[in-house]
Amino acid sequence: ETGLFTFDPGFKSTASCESGLTYIDGGEGILLHRGYSIEELSERSSFMETSYLLLNGELPTKEELDNFTYTITRHTMVNEQLNQLYKGFRRDAHPMAIMCGVVGALSAFYHDSTDIADPDQRKIASHRLIAKMPTIAAMAYKYSIGQPFVYPDNSLSYTGNFLRMTFGVPAEEYVVDPVVEQALDRIFILHADHEQNASTSTVRLAGSSGANPFACIAAGIACLWGPAHGGANEAALNMLHEIGRPERIPEYIERAKDKNDPFRLMGFGHRVYKNYDPRATVMRKTVREVLSALNVQDPVFDVALQLEEMALSDDYFVEKKLFPNVDFYSGIILSAIGFPTTMFTALFALARTVGWVSQWNEMISDPAQTIGRPRQLYTGPAARPFVEIGDR
Ligand code: SDX
Repeated sequence: ETGLFTFDPGFKSTASCESGLTYIDGGEGILLHRGYSIEELSERSSFMETSYLLLNGELPTKEELDNFTYTITRHTMVNEQLNQLYKGFRRDAHPMAIMCGVVGALSAFYHDSTDIADPDQRKIASHRLIAKMPTIAAMAYKYSIGQPFVYPDNSLSYTGNFLRMTFGVPAEEYVVDPVVEQALDRIFILHADHEQNASTSTVRLAGSSGANPFACIAAGIACLWGPAHGGANEAALNMLHEIGRPERIPEYIERAKDKNDPFRLMGFGHRVYKNYDPRATVMRKTVREVLSALNVQDPVFDVALQLEEMALSDDYFVEKKLFPNVDFYSGIILSAIGFPTTMFTALFALARTVGWVSQWNEMISDPAQTIGRPRQLYTGPAARPFVEIGDR
């Protein structure tokens, strides 16, 4: 009935909710946010514009965008007490472990935005989460390399601010590279939302109990960390480095096809896309742009291109409709920018926060869209009497 497709009874019964945020056609490789294609948004909008669109349903006017950006940048600092929390982690803690803990701990600091029945408090919580994720992620990186935290500089763009907090040091001025800023902003757009993926469903399920938004987003971060989900970007680059040279690709393709081998091609396949993930197409184009602009020769990109070509000409991958997904190329760009692989999923979480928050708001404002309490098909033993331990 939405003009995109009509629900068939079977589909409606399996759908966990109705949502007007993101539309995916897995067969055609289509991804729309509030009706706008990911191709146009990633090429022609900014992450702040796309964030406004996801949150509010319409692309912002210049004034609306300026006001939204001003509001977000006014929430980029975190409570100074949070710095103590970081000091409790080991230096080699995975940034996602730190983000799970720190984002959940935001509930302990912001008591004025945890009443989910109050639309104003929901709005402040949403803005705080979108604004503070870059600061929290940058602090996790700084802590892991033993450098001091860098405070936000709100004269910079959302993405420029994050780059400076991550790569800047107090000892010298940090100049944001516009090529890097634009590429990272585009990567954030490509990761902003993606319908009812595992981590978004986690956020909705946590929210259905009335949990506060900070706790719900922390739950989403935990779920995203899995290598089958958001952790795949880190796993995909590690895989490409392990393959190392094009002549080793056939060995890994055969392993991926071997049912007795748990190895899978990381960054390939998708629960919904049975065609090319449209985000991977944009990502592959962006790799070329960034590597040439930064004058980086990364042999791993050649391995990735040849792996894609060989896999997509192999019957196994063609028959099972396995194509590169959003995670296949993203790591090459992030690595060229200077991020360690351990930060890749943290960047995914940073960008996906606007999607999680938008989906959470949609659900809270329309309880009919709450996932509620899933049921099961019981497969255990029938009822039976207790047996004393001596008789077992
Ligand atoms: C994300 O849901 C979302 O929208 C997620 C996401 C988002 O934006 O939120 O798009 C982000 O999580 C992308 C996916 C990142 N994960 C990876 O790249 C990890 C590698 N991919 C696989 O683990 C796998 O493709 C999944 C988990 C993503 C999907 O697994 P499914 O549902 O089993 O895929 P399928 O049903 O299409 O698989 C069909 C067959 C199966 O073999 P059979 O049981 O039919 O014999 O293909 C096999 C799978 O075993 N297969 C693969 C494979 N992916 C699936 N074989 C080799 N290599 C792979 N990568």
